[in-house]
Amino acid sequence: MTDAWDFGLELRSDPATTAARTAVLDKPGFGQAFTDHMVVATWSADRGWYDQKVTAYAPLKVSPAAAVLHYAQEIFEGLKAYRHEDGSVWAFRPDRNAARFSSSATRLALPQVPEQDFIAALRALVTVDEAWVPPAGSGETSLYLRPYMIATEAALSVRPAREVLFGVIASPAGAYFDTGPKPISIWLTTSTIRATPGGTGAAKCGSNYAASLAGLAEAVANGCDQVAFVDAVERRWLEEIGSTNLFFVYADGRIVTPELSGSILEGVTRASVLDLAVDLGHTVEERKVSADEWRDGVRSGEISEVFASGTAAVIAPIGRLAWPDGDLTIGDHSINHGVGPVTATLRQSLLDLQYGRVPDTRGWLT
Ligand code: COI
Repeated sequence: MTDAWDFGLELRSDPATTAARTAVLDKPGFGQAFTDHMVVATWSADRGWYDQKVTAYAPLKVSPAAAVLHYAQEIFEGLKAYRHEDGSVWAFRPDRNAARFSSSATRLALPQVPEQDFIAALRALVTVDEAWVPPAGSGETSLYLRPYMIATEAALSVRPAREVLFGVIASPAGAYFDTGPKPISIWLTTSTIRATPGGTGAAKCGSNYAASLAGLAEAVANGCDQVAFVDAVERRWLEEIGSTNLFFVYADGRIVTPELSGSILEGVTRASVLDLAVDLGHTVEERKVSADEWRDGVRSGEISEVFASGTAAVIAPIGRLAWPDGDLTIGDHSINHGVGPVTATLRQSLLDLQYGRVPDTRGWLT
């Protein structure tokens, strides 16, 4: 058992980078610019974790034989730090990310990072690079934090690596989807599958995202923004969109999301939306939802709104569903740019909490 991670925090953002930082904070985009520093920690089977540090943001030196490059032994997380009106900076439910990182590590045969060390690493980076957290009142901006772990051992045998690197990088973030809170369009694919029973679908590992890219390319080729996947066995139960979970709002007020099948990622935003929906008086259901239920429900008016949820995407309204022989418009695009009232209210409730505009009664902010 190693001691809790302790980061020297004498580093601060370099004033020389102020102009570059201001330019990024003016127009953050998503995941394109990175802060001045990063966290790295090294693990070996013999020593456990060692050499945890906050250091200048720079390319990693990794052997071309590193296991991650060949066998994709890798996991990551995504969460955001928000600046509140009083200038303080808060992370949203980092304990949930720590827990998911731990279960992803188990699934990918990587070592554990204890929750307090995971959070200490986030805290160290946000403290050093606090100037990169966008100011309060600059729209839906935040500092996106990306913890990750990769197998660095230079060895081509297929087995759990004996050398591993943990890191955290940070990137000022604006809206994830270029369309902003305007509705996105979804391509329903049955030609590719994202995850299988017993596979890694519930883990946050890079290979799941790689497996979603051919479907995304198909979606884009068909004029859509994102792709929705169905289950691998019956090819009819909705799973998730490559980078987000999926929600249906019924005209009678029910809110339904596909149950955690073992091949769906348990989103932190997904869990938060379920709780907030109950607070707002909705009945929530986690169960199987078929692609036919989506299509039939929209056609009959039983389903009034559909949205996607994720840390990066927040809550993104879905305004169109397309598939090889059909196309459906969802919601009334002449009102509020097509953002349905339930989607808009849930979105606002979540953002109000994250930006400290309402009391954090559940202790979700750290
Ligand atoms: C997130 O929402 O944080 C994600 O991980 C989705 C994506 C940007 C990979």
